[in-house]
Amino acid sequence: MTAKKQLQGEVFYPSAEVVEKARLKDWEATAQWAAEDLEGFWASEAEELEWYKKWDQVLDDSKAPFYKWFVGAQTNIVHNAIDRHLKTWRRNKLALIWEGEPGDSRAISYHGLNREVNQFANILKAMGVGKGDRVTIYMGRIPEIMFAMLACAKLGAIHSVVYGGFSVDALQGRIDDSESKVVITADGGWMRGKIVELKQIVDEAVKHSPSVQTVIVVKRTGQEVYMETGRDYWYHDLAQLPIANGDCETEKLDAEDPLFILYTSGTTGTPKAILHTHGGYMVGTSTTLKYVFDLQDDDRWWCAADPGWITGHSYIVYAPLVLGATSFMYEGAPNYPYPDRWWKLIAKYGLSVFYTAPTAIRGLMRFGESWPNRHDLSSLRLLGSVGEPINPEAWKWYHRVIGGERCPIMDTWWQTETGNFMITPTPVVPLKPGSGTRPFFGQEAEILDDDGNLVADGEEGYMVLKHPWPAMLRTIYKNPDRYVEQYWSKYPGYYTTGDSAKRDSDGYFWIIGRVDDVIKVSGYRLGTAEIESALVSHPAVAEAAAIGLPHDVKGQAIHAYCILRAGVGAAPALADELIQHVSDHIGKIARPEEITFVDKLPKTRSGKIMRRLLKARALGLDEGDTSTLED
Ligand code: WT7
Repeated sequence: MTAKKQLQGEVFYPSAEVVEKARLKDWEATAQWAAEDLEGFWASEAEELEWYKKWDQVLDDSKAPFYKWFVGAQTNIVHNAIDRHLKTWRRNKLALIWEGEPGDSRAISYHGLNREVNQFANILKAMGVGKGDRVTIYMGRIPEIMFAMLACAKLGAIHSVVYGGFSVDALQGRIDDSESKVVITADGGWMRGKIVELKQIVDEAVKHSPSVQTVIVVKRTGQEVYMETGRDYWYHDLAQLPIANGDCETEKLDAEDPLFILYTSGTTGTPKAILHTHGGYMVGTSTTLKYVFDLQDDDRWWCAADPGWITGHSYIVYAPLVLGATSFMYEGAPNYPYPDRWWKLIAKYGLSVFYTAPTAIRGLMRFGESWPNRHDLSSLRLLGSVGEPINPEAWKWYHRVIGGERCPIMDTWWQTETGNFMITPTPVVPLKPGSGTRPFFGQEAEILDDDGNLVADGEEGYMVLKHPWPAMLRTIYKNPDRYVEQYWSKYPGYYTTGDSAKRDSDGYFWIIGRVDDVIKVSGYRLGTAEIESALVSHPAVAEAAAIGLPHDVKGQAIHAYCILRAGVGAAPALADELIQHVSDHIGKIARPEEITFVDKLPKTRSGKIMRRLLKARALGLDEGDTSTLED
């Protein structure tokens, strides 16, 4: 027995009921085991899954930071996500419950999922898609996005899902960079009672594409869309062809073969393609979901993210299926037609574990408690938060109003790059509102100053991770140098997260935010460079700088400063036009809150925009060190 230490600050201890139900009651013992035997811990988790061939070596760090996991093993994540369940009672279990925004619904068993994925895979195969080929998927939250992702994985093809809220430029850049052969989309998607014109955006994006041969279109809205002969095919037409029938063999892959790439914003330049692999990702995502959200056979899990983000990849699609769980997916907006849509869904489907982002909680909090109070939320037993720090007020509202004070909140810190939760409680860990508690089993984090020295407890610094983990990114696709540069060069031997944080005297971590030029808007990750290049693509703009400033609901909002071209007048109508311009090019999520016209931008002598200074000025804060300022 370990002595219970008195923790500092406001602490929520798990109830006896929660501890009773939790599969892992002694957090310390597992943490200690993993700390002493990192490879042993992960190997024992990997043993719970099926492999065509077991590994010769758990971790190969001889070419660090190009780590390899489960070296020599053969697998396919689809074998564990679908195939193995078909041999058990789980073939009849629901894999997915789905509701469309208009109210239509579907329920798909593991048996049914297998049929759908085989059909999609047969079609892709007939289109010439095979191992290593890239396929871009650009759809809304409908079951077919899951089928398409799994179909690619089944064939060993690499999917690149682009969030359906992105617009033409963002989509085009990702299709071209990945050199995708095939694009999978839908005729549209439902959002707030309106149709998102997915197909139109694809048409624009692939107009000059050097790589795309085929566009597969899933019918969702039934509206008429343009179909280009010889390039565009309706999915339901292809499904009628004899080639679509029957089983499609799950490709036997090396554990280190790529599973997907996912673009995310970084410090500089265009978004980078983060690469994840079959073996390690399958072990890491399923292990973390199992311990953190403690999924049991009678649970109904709802990760309310979009499959187009890493949260959806890992915790809507892959990990729940590997665990043989039942997932719920909802197509539309949380406040459509009324602000109680989400609460209504929880009651209607009896969902028991719910995972969302602070921005959504803050947004729904504004409508008041009467909306959730109309619904019976007693099926809930665990809650989760992800994407940005959760402010204690939102945490407490979520805990009291949604969780009825009985559901612990799993505040999970992680990244596209990490693939799975990294700093996170489990249900038995005492919680402090606003802290993700401690690193997951097998991991340690440190807070360093600029020179790489450890800072004292309670002091802010750069957060780094100490040990490799199975679901870690393997590289940046087609750009290994950037991988080393971005994550492993500032502090050799450590993984640099790009976040600043503090550790308190209990060893709990408190994330402050990004230290680079990444802005988190409603939990979405955007680079200042993308927003700025969209702005300067407008004929009126000569130069632009974007920063993130605090926002009550979004966490951060984008504020942009523009220098206009000679002869262009600074009119309010132009500001509106520029806001729309950014939205049309990148997507609504990148919409600046405000545009300010300026004559000059603060720059370093080497010509770099000092966004830090713009931010300090906007907030009326101390400008800090300005010795590098040009004038
Ligand atoms: C960045 C990664 C991976 C999930 C979705 C975001 C911030 C993420 C938390 C949290 C405080 C968080 C960090 C991180 N972040 N979760 N629980 N508490 N901050 O993935 O788009 O790759 O963004 O999100 O700043 O670096 P992402």
